[in-house]
Amino acid sequence: MDNSRRRFLGVAGGLAGACVFVDTLRVAQAMDMPMAMPMKQRMAMPALAAPNVPLVNPVTMAKFVDALPVPPIAVPTGKRAHAAFGGRQLPLYRMPMRAFSARVHRDLPPTPQWGYAGSTPGPTIVTRRGEPVLVEWANELPARHFLPIDHGIHGAEKSKPDVRTITHVHGARVSAPNDGWPEDWYVPGKSLTALYPGDQDATTLWYHDHAMGITRLNIYAGLFGSFHVHDDDEQALGLPSGEFDIPLMLYDRLLAKSGKLYYPVSDDPEAPWVSECRGDAVLCNGKLYPYLEVEPRRYRLRLINAANTSFFNLSLSHGKPFQQIGSDQGLLAAPTDRLSIELYPAERAEVIVDFSAYAGQSVQLRHQADGIVEFRVRAKGRRDTSVVPAALRQVQRIDPSTAVQDRVLALGEQDDSGGNPMTMLLDGKMWSDPISEKPKKGTVETWTFVNVTGDAHPIHLHLVRFQVLERRPFDLFAWNARKELKFTGPSIPPAAHEAGWKDTVRCDPGMVTRIITRFDGEPGKYVWHCHYLEHEDNEMMRPYELVG
Ligand code: C2O
Ligand code: CU
Repeated sequence: MDNSRRRFLGVAGGLAGACVFVDTLRVAQAMDMPMAMPMKQRMAMPALAAPNVPLVNPVTMAKFVDALPVPPIAVPTGKRAHAAFGGRQLPLYRMPMRAFSARVHRDLPPTPQWGYAGSTPGPTIVTRRGEPVLVEWANELPARHFLPIDHGIHGAEKSKPDVRTITHVHGARVSAPNDGWPEDWYVPGKSLTALYPGDQDATTLWYHDHAMGITRLNIYAGLFGSFHVHDDDEQALGLPSGEFDIPLMLYDRLLAKSGKLYYPVSDDPEAPWVSECRGDAVLCNGKLYPYLEVEPRRYRLRLINAANTSFFNLSLSHGKPFQQIGSDQGLLAAPTDRLSIELYPAERAEVIVDFSAYAGQSVQLRHQADGIVEFRVRAKGRRDTSVVPAALRQVQRIDPSTAVQDRVLALGEQDDSGGNPMTMLLDGKMWSDPISEKPKKGTVETWTFVNVTGDAHPIHLHLVRFQVLERRPFDLFAWNARKELKFTGPSIPPAAHEAGWKDTVRCDPGMVTRIITRFDGEPGKYVWHCHYLEHEDNEMMRPYELVG
C-alpha cells in the first residue's frame, strides 16, 4: 500500500468542526504534553476535497417538524434447532440488508440509504439473559457501492467485491465464529446465521457492519440498529419499560441538497480515505431534528453514539440532569445525576428522564448548544408506576492484583516521508502482523493504552466487558526516547458513570488509560480497535486470540 498519499486531514479542512477543538482542549489539559505532536498534525496540508455537490446547511432547516421514528421490535420469523443447545428450538430472526430511500427531513428529498430490514436504524432486537437467539444476517444489497471506496486500504483492494458485509453485535458475548470477524464478509445473495447465547447482563448493545476496509462506508450508509438485553434482576427493578423504553441512535451526516448522503473525500481520487468524518447534521433514529410526543412521566432512554468519528455532548434544555443508570455493558451500581453526557463513538448511556413536571411544555435533547430532539410533553398521561431504585446492581470491582499480565499498548501513528501522520496504529502494528495479544481464558489482565497521538481514540475490545482503572498524564518525550512510561501527574480514577462495565473507552491524548478485564469466553480470534471508523478501517484494528 502506498501510504505516502494518506495525509492527515487537519482542522483546516473546513468540514472538521468543533469536535477537533475539544480534542485540542484535551491536549492542552494534559500536563506536560508537548504541543509538537498535535501541531504537526494541524499544520499538515489539508487534503480534504471541497464537496462536489451543494450541501444542506442544517441550520437553515425547519426544526422539529418530523416525528421521531422508534424502530420496531424485531419479530422472529420462526425457530431452528441448534446443536450447541442440545437441539433446542431457538427463535430465529431474519435481517435482510437492503437499499431503500427515506426522508430524513420533511423539506428534503428522500435519502438513498442501506439498512437492515430496509430502514436506518434497523429493527431493535430484544433478548433476555439466558435465552439464546439466532439471527440470519442476509446481504440483499445492490452490487455497487454508492460511497467512495479507497482501494489502497488493506482489505479493500480492487480485487475485492465492492459490496461486502459482515455483522457484528457490538458488546455481545459470543464465540468467535459468531462475532463478525471482519474478513468473514460475504456478498449480495449470501447470508450468515449467527448464534447469540444471551450469556450476559441486561444492557444496550448495537449491531452494525464490520466488513474489512469499508466498515466506515457501510455504517455511514445506514447499516446499524440497536440490540437490547434484559434480565430478571433488571426487570424486577421497576424501571420504565415497554413503550417508555426507547433507543436514541445518534449519528452525524453531511447531506447533499439532492437528499443524498455525502461522504467526505481527500483531493486524491486514487486515495479518497480521510482520517475523520464529521457531519453537521445530527440525526436521531433516521431523522434530522425530530420531535417525540411523550407523557408527563419517566422514560428510560438508551443513548447510543453510532457516528463515524463525532462525539456527542448531550444535555437537556431545561437545565436539569439526566439520571444515568447504565453504561456500555449494563446498569451502574446506582443512578448518577449528570448535567451533560459525553459519548464517543460506540459508547452508550442509559438514562432516566422524568417529564412529569413539564406537562404541556417541551424539553429538548441538546448536543452542545443545539437542540437535536424535541420532547413534547402531553398535558396528561397514564399513571406512572415506574421507579428508579437507589441501588441498581452490584458491580464487583476487579482487583488489579489479580491481573496476570499488564499489556502496555501504544496508540500511535505512522508518518509519511514528509512527516505527515497518515495511519493510526495500535502498538505500532498493522492488521496483518502476527497476533501479539494472546490472553489465557479465565485470566485477568490490565491493558494500558498509551496515547501518543494528538487525538482521543475510543478503544473497543470484542467479547469482554471491562472496567476503567485510571487515566494519567505521561511524559511523551520519555516515551518517544526510551519507551519509558513516566507519569507527570496524579492518577485520575473513573467517575461514577465510568465505574460500571464498559466495552469502549475514550483514550485522551497525552494520557495513559488503563482498563482491567477477565478474559472469559470461548477461545478463538477476536478483534480490538479504535471505534473511529476511519481509523479502524485504516489499520487501527488488531486481532487478539483468547487461548484455551
Ligand atoms: Cu462496534 Cu468492532 O465494533
Ligand atoms: Cu483512532
